[in-house]
Order: sequence, then C-alpha cells, then structure tokens
Amino acid sequence: MTQLSQKHLLGIKDLTEKDIQLIFDTADTFKEVINRPIKKVPSLRDITIANVFFENSTRTRLSFELAEKRLSADVINFSASSSSLKKGETLLDTVNNILAMKVDMVVMRHASPGAPHFLSRYIDANIVNAGDGTHEHPTQALLDTYSIRERFGNVAGLKVAIIGDILHSRVAISNIFALKKLGAEVMVCGPNTLLPKHIQSLGVKVELDVFKALQWCDVANVLRIQLERQQIKYFPSLREYSLYYGINLSMLQKLDKEITIMHPGPINRGVELSSDVADSNHAIILDQVENGVATRMAVLYLLASQKQ
Ligand code: CP
Repeated sequence: MTQLSQKHLLGIKDLTEKDIQLIFDTADTFKEVINRPIKKVPSLRDITIANVFFENSTRTRLSFELAEKRLSADVINFSASSSSLKKGETLLDTVNNILAMKVDMVVMRHASPGAPHFLSRYIDANIVNAGDGTHEHPTQALLDTYSIRERFGNVAGLKVAIIGDILHSRVAISNIFALKKLGAEVMVCGPNTLLPKHIQSLGVKVELDVFKALQWCDVANVLRIQLERQQIKYFPSLREYSLYYGINLSMLQKLDKEITIMHPGPINRGVELSSDVADSNHAIILDQVENGVATRMAVLYLLASQKQ
C-alpha cells in the first residue's frame, strides 16, 4: 500500500494500522533526509499549505512549519489572535478566504472538538488536525508511537501507561487509538476526577495508584494538567497533585526495571515530572520533538500524493 485510506488527517480513529505503518515507513525516509547536511527535498514544491492556529502552540506549529519547509512547500501562517476573527468573521469565512488564495492544505488547531471535521465538509483542501479541543491530536500520537517504535523496535506487546489529566487530553485519546491499533496494552492513570467515566470502553486498564502504573508499564507517557480547560476544581491544589501523581527519580529507582518516560510538552516541571526525570536518560522527550518533524513530513507528503 502506498496511499493513505483518508483524504484528511482528522483523527487516529479514522486510520487503519496499515495507514500508520505507511506513515512510519515514510517518516523513516524523511528522518534520514533531515539528518543530512542538506535537509531539504523538492517533494511538495508546487503545494501551498496554510497553518491556521486558533489556539496557542509552540512544538506543533514550529514542527509543521519546519516539515513543510523541508518539503519545499509554500507556507502561510495564520494566528487567530492577530486576525479579523476579532472583527466577527466566522471560521468558515476565514478559511474560505485563505483557500481563495489557492491553498492546497490546511493544518488547523482549534479549541472546539470537531472544528476540522466541520471544515472538511465544506472545503476541498486536505485538512490536518493539529489538535481540536479535548478530542484528538493525531500527529502527536503518530510521533509518540513512532518514538516508541524507534526505542523498542516495535509497539506491539508493549505496556504503555498514560498518566495525568486524561479527562481534558486530546493527546491521551489519540495515543489510545494509535497504541491499540498497533497492538500495545494501554493503561490510564490519574485521580478519579481526571479520568473520563467510560474510558474502559476504549479497551484500556485503569489505575489510580501512580507507582503501580509505573511498575506495570514499559513506557509512561506523562501528561500536563490542562488548567486552561478546567472550569471547576478537580483536585485541591497543584502541590497535592504533585505529591500523589508527580513522578520523580527516586520513584523510578525503586522500580525493578528501567522504564521509558515520554511527555508531549509543554512540561510543568515540578508538577507532573521532576527535572531529574525530565532531563534524565529515562526520558525521550526531545526525541519525540525531533520525530515530530519527520512524522509530519510523512503525513503531508502522503496526503499531497493523493492529488497526483
Ligand atoms: N505537544 C503539543 O501539542 O505542544 P504545543 O501545544 O506546544 O504545540
């Protein structure tokens, strides 16, 4: 198979295992390219991509822009905070105006779950979801599972614990879909108030004790508390959260095995992870960031290939 089964990348839920393997194999090629002295290839020379971000981002936005430039695409960047949205323009009008400038692909981050799905019903360009509210963050899950595959050689059969604010996390949902499709066992761990009620229906184990989760897993993907999405108090204080769910080096040293620590970023140091873990050899956090460029190059390249 050399083509993706989808016209857009809206969520991991829509991808097949073969789609994911194709993205990984393509990312392997691009990872080799971006480690050459000349890091650029002409693959998307005639393609124009708009990065349309309605929510803050550091990694995803820079990583997409770099991926696009490494593929020689023409790139335009849109930031909601400095746009005519402030004058009352709708999402659809905004995107249609961008598309009138002959844009082929839209990479979009939005605070509302389903915003890229809504757009996909009205516009012809390929859409890549760069995070829609608490719903999905598909390229984050692709780079996370690609990094696990790179570390262990395979994802199937591994035990992965996703720890933290599962309730508000698009990273957790996309990772669960990707890991399950690739044959990993998945556990979620966090305070009861930060676990969605029906999360077990996604085929994951649930654990409230973080040390037990660490003892069980090969990989711990640790998530930030998303205070910006919390309208009520889910736990008494960040200090108390950190006492019960924060991961530090002495905890890892008490385990009878080595485990790998991941984090999608941004890290709140001293809350979910101590610096002695975040900066240790256990952590592959910056490898995840590096792999983000290669996996996003793969996604953009494969979506653009469908047009030819
Ligand atoms: N991991 C992630 O999505 O980070 P940003 O919000 O900085 O893009």
